[in-house]
Amino acid sequence: MVSEFFLIRRNLSVFHESSRSHPNGNPNRHCDFAALARTISGTFALGSHSIHGPAHWRRVERNGLWLAERSGGDLFVVRLFAWFHDSCRFNEWTDPDHGKRGADHALNLRGTLFDLEDDALERLVYACTWHTDKEHSDDPTVGSCWDGDRLDLGRVGTTPSPRFMSTAAGKEAAGAGHAFLSHTVNPLEG
Ligand SMILES: [Fe+2]
Repeated sequence: MVSEFFLIRRNLSVFHESSRSHPNGNPNRHCDFAALARTISGTFALGSHSIHGPAHWRRVERNGLWLAERSGGDLFVVRLFAWFHDSCRFNEWTDPDHGKRGADHALNLRGTLFDLEDDALERLVYACTWHTDKEHSDDPTVGSCWDGDRLDLGRVGTTPSPRFMSTAAGKEAAGAGHAFLSHTVNPLEG
């Protein structure tokens, strides 16, 4: 089980390198993810060492890509979710509107640092806005976003639960317990 996760994660690194301009040849989409990461990290109020900060966003991105590959979700939206969903937190604890602010941040940067079709943008906005208030989604893209975030709960000492996963892949990963806790093993960043 563990080796399967690691192999899939390594394969996803190819996607990371190849999706900087027009993913899947779609001319309506573009994103310089390196520039996006610098911009969002540079304006993040809680700093680079925040438990909700850039290191978490990278793990959510990797988890989400793994999930979307297996669930049929939109990989481009999942990557954007990872970077925006906690980007406007004001504190590490209760911050009930941070998802909505993250969605607004994405809306403000659309057309400059990235772009995508309206229906995909709607999924991104929905996923960011409701990522802490709703439990499940039947949509494979939204589900991959939320499961990718929740699979990183190990960083705060909480074991991810299959009960709170939307996708079958998320349930499988959560059921694997420590085998998937990306804060302890990171084969892509060696
Ligand atoms: Fe998060």
